[in-house]
Amino acid sequence: MTSNQETFKKIISHAKEYGFIFQSSEIYDGLSAVYDYGPNGVELKNNIKSYWWTSMVQMNENIVGFDASVLMHPKIWKASGHVDAFNDPLIDNKDSKSRYRADVLIEDYVRKIELKINKEIIKSKKRFGDSFDEKQFRKTNSRVLDYERKIKEINTEMKKCFDDDDLVSLKKLIDDLGIVDPVSGSKNWTEIKQFNLMFSTSIGASIDSSSEIFLRPETAQGIFVNFLNVQKSSRKKIPFGIAQIGKAFRNEIVARQFVFRMREFEQMEMQFFVKPGTQSQWYNQWKDTRMKWHQALGLGEENYRFHDHDKLAHYADAACDIEFNFPFGFKELEGIHSRTDFDLSQHEKYSGKKIKYFDPEINESYTPYVVETSIGLDRMFLAILSSSYTEERIDEQNSRLVLKIPDFLAPYKLAILPLVKKDGLPDYANRIFNDLKIHYNISYDEKDAIGRRYRRQDAIGTPLCITVDHDSLKDDKVTVRFRDSMQQIRIDISQLKKEIDDRLSLSNWLD
Ligand code: GAP
Repeated sequence: MTSNQETFKKIISHAKEYGFIFQSSEIYDGLSAVYDYGPNGVELKNNIKSYWWTSMVQMNENIVGFDASVLMHPKIWKASGHVDAFNDPLIDNKDSKSRYRADVLIEDYVRKIELKINKEIIKSKKRFGDSFDEKQFRKTNSRVLDYERKIKEINTEMKKCFDDDDLVSLKKLIDDLGIVDPVSGSKNWTEIKQFNLMFSTSIGASIDSSSEIFLRPETAQGIFVNFLNVQKSSRKKIPFGIAQIGKAFRNEIVARQFVFRMREFEQMEMQFFVKPGTQSQWYNQWKDTRMKWHQALGLGEENYRFHDHDKLAHYADAACDIEFNFPFGFKELEGIHSRTDFDLSQHEKYSGKKIKYFDPEINESYTPYVVETSIGLDRMFLAILSSSYTEERIDEQNSRLVLKIPDFLAPYKLAILPLVKKDGLPDYANRIFNDLKIHYNISYDEKDAIGRRYRRQDAIGTPLCITVDHDSLKDDKVTVRFRDSMQQIRIDISQLKKEIDDRLSLSNWLD
């Protein structure tokens, strides 16, 4: 196991131990790729939503909010192309009876070659010490060059298979590479078949094909079919956007990497409606804005990168991902798509209702083009959790585990801790708690030695601890201890609210 994999395992167990994320239906042995958020998890999740919503809706006068239902008319998914094209290529192993995504099997094979490259690099680093030049090594070492060539060949071939919709050649690639079932080691594969990712259920009392409906696989369609309702009721002129946070459902076959790929997850999406011909300018603008939004969080600019798509979805004329450096490597965190007028035109065609915007500036009606920004809330959660997880040595004997979550997103903004459980200190501490609880989510803790209480707060990412001691009763001052620096200062309680506001409020951060 690599050290990244080990750290990822630790993060997953930390998330459970400290009430961030639990496996769904755990006492029934769990439901795969479905998760529940615990008391600390739901606070962090709500704070992320609030950060997105405030910066997207509240701070943009040309973006309004929306909340569509999960269940919608089944024709919507025919019109959007999801019934016919929202598929994964699946392959079964005849011996183990396990089912896999063909592209993931190939990607895993590629990842193994990448690991071989890393091994070569680590070996040479050890041998050459400080004088080792990784860039030069990658350019000149024949084994590394062979591995890289192989990776390129495989990726090119896989892309060609998808571009040509050629599942026979995709299967041949798996056979040629000698890919084995990770469980049984067998190469006894079936042909590859496309599998639709939408969950279906039925509406009403009778269960027949006419009552079949789908759980939405993306929140976007709820916005498209309400375009005119929202535009007219909010009297918005193009360009303007509609933003929404909500659940989406996909019957992911390869569900793994914790909350990275789930069957039930949440999206924060914004559809920006623009005049035809201006979409490319808006696409670039939103790419820039969204990257800045991510980087403003302070998780490290080097942890983000763009991945421009070569293969475009059926509805897009340009698309990219913002990728984040998760513990398992750079992976998609947010998608930005120039969706053309595909969705609105399709709904116009399938519903038989006109969906046009009358532009008073040019005195003409047209179907708007759409630029979409779509981020997975759970992936954002994982990005924050994994990058803030820090094991820190304090001195020879002691270490601590601290979640360095951006302060304004932390589940609890502060903890109030009376030094001892007597002498009137709990009463004094409770008074501070009651004064501040309307403004912040606060933890109150009077059990165990103060050092252990600090560690507990570090482990859930509480940025400030306020300690009340015997002197506080005389001078109305308390000790404020900072999570990251562990520095402590003495502060008058009349200054407390301002100190907290300055450091922790979302509005200060956004300002
Ligand atoms: N409306 C466009 C759309 O849904 P997408 O790239 O399929 O585009 C957007 O999804 C975002 O939703 C992704 O960038 C990812 O963050 C999140 N997402 C997609 N599938 C997910 C899954 N199975 N589990 C968790 N998040 C997922």
